[in-house]
Amino acid sequence: MRRKIVAGNWKMNKTVPEAVELARAVRDALADESTVDVVLCPPFVDLVPVHEQIKGTNIGLGAQNLFWEEKGAYTGEISAAMLLSAGCQYVIIGHSERRQYFGETDETVNKRLRRALAAGLTPIVCVGEKLEERQAGRTKEVVEGQVRGAFSGLSGEEVSRTVIAYEPVWAIGTGVNATPEQAQEVHEFLRELIGDLAGKQIAEGLRIQYGGSVTPENAGDLMSQPDVDGALVGGASLDAERFVKIVKAAAQR
Ligand code: PGA
Repeated sequence: MRRKIVAGNWKMNKTVPEAVELARAVRDALADESTVDVVLCPPFVDLVPVHEQIKGTNIGLGAQNLFWEEKGAYTGEISAAMLLSAGCQYVIIGHSERRQYFGETDETVNKRLRRALAAGLTPIVCVGEKLEERQAGRTKEVVEGQVRGAFSGLSGEEVSRTVIAYEPVWAIGTGVNATPEQAQEVHEFLRELIGDLAGKQIAEGLRIQYGGSVTPENAGDLMSQPDVDGALVGGASLDAERFVKIVKAAAQR
């Protein structure tokens, strides 16, 4: 049985005081929740103050990116060691917004992934097709290329320490989520692919989250699918009540 994992990707939202308030509200509402892995992924400057609120609880902390070099003259970048020292256990890698706006490629995703794993962070690796790729019937081909690129050169043991987030780009921030059947079809395909890359046993244990317009209303149906092991939540994670409802929906599946 795979344990569900629900992560809130706050993106570029929440000042320090706002982040503290949101983290506190989520923490207070989820004090008794121990059946789901819950992760908050605030912007870099919010990591330490959010950690202050959630340390000692079951809620984990994640960053939204990291740089692959260890340290040095890389103005504006953040290292794995810095994330660990801020209290992070997780890091999102290869989000479609990084790919779209900041030149992220499968190759740079692979470099970040290697660094995160070497540091002992759990990477949440994002893949997903664009609308025109889905319409052209290329969804599986696209996500396969992204996964093969991201995981290139990794050992089975390393693959087993990752989480994959399937996030169709057309569903992110649009209010149009994939149907549970659409999500399941791709998740099942991804699990088979991981089986090819790392073996069936690792594939069976690996968690694959769905992301893209997840709400309290659709979360239950999505996470009821056999290969959907949780959610990566953007917009709805900015509101404590809505995020907590999504976590509770995961706890019931
Ligand atoms: P959304 O974002 O829930 O606002 O669609 C999801 C994501 O980008 O992780």
